[in-house]
Amino acid sequence: MKSEPTFIHQFVPGDSERTLLLLHGTGGNEHDLLPLGRELDPAAALLSPRGPVSENGHPRFFRRLAEGVFDLEDLKRRTDDLADFVLAAAQGYQFDLAKLVAVGYSNGANIAASILLQRPKVLRSAILLRAMVPFEPEELPDLHGVRVWIAGGNEDMIIPRENTERLAEILSSAGAEVTARFFEAGHGLTNAELVLVKRWLDR
Ligand code: MLT
Repeated sequence: MKSEPTFIHQFVPGDSERTLLLLHGTGGNEHDLLPLGRELDPAAALLSPRGPVSENGHPRFFRRLAEGVFDLEDLKRRTDDLADFVLAAAQGYQFDLAKLVAVGYSNGANIAASILLQRPKVLRSAILLRAMVPFEPEELPDLHGVRVWIAGGNEDMIIPRENTERLAEILSSAGAEVTARFFEAGHGLTNAELVLVKRWLDR
């Protein structure tokens, strides 16, 4: 990468034109989702940044005031930082933004959703695993042509189903093609849903 990276990250080149932007959950790091990325697409390049915020030593992509209560000022700034990092990485590593798919889990899914709402030109496709509404937008962005997969867990103790449903509603109202599915699962991911994610990705 030619320009200065603003995020500690891993970049694994691939054999296809697709790049997966892997965004980990709270307490994860840039290595965590590489196996998931490989499983979802063995040929894709993988770009995996580490969340720059530390919550008692646990990396996150933005600050929160309590569980599910976000520091909206910080979220706004970190959303721009991550979006700018993705744009710089596309230039530096020479990948096509149109072929970039964000794959976010939990806190990583929430910042991916925030990029969709705040910087709508950066992501054309996103897989949001255990996501919630990052913020209620005052104005809806134009997300026509954007594909989004959302997966929730019916027994998720961290993210209430209604919150994920509200996110799906916001993104759909903005014009995105949203597929929202809920699984008999908690906050953790299940193999059954990953099979469906893979199918959706290959469509
Ligand atoms: C968040 O803080 O982004 C969500 O509550 C999910 C989590 O990271 O626990």
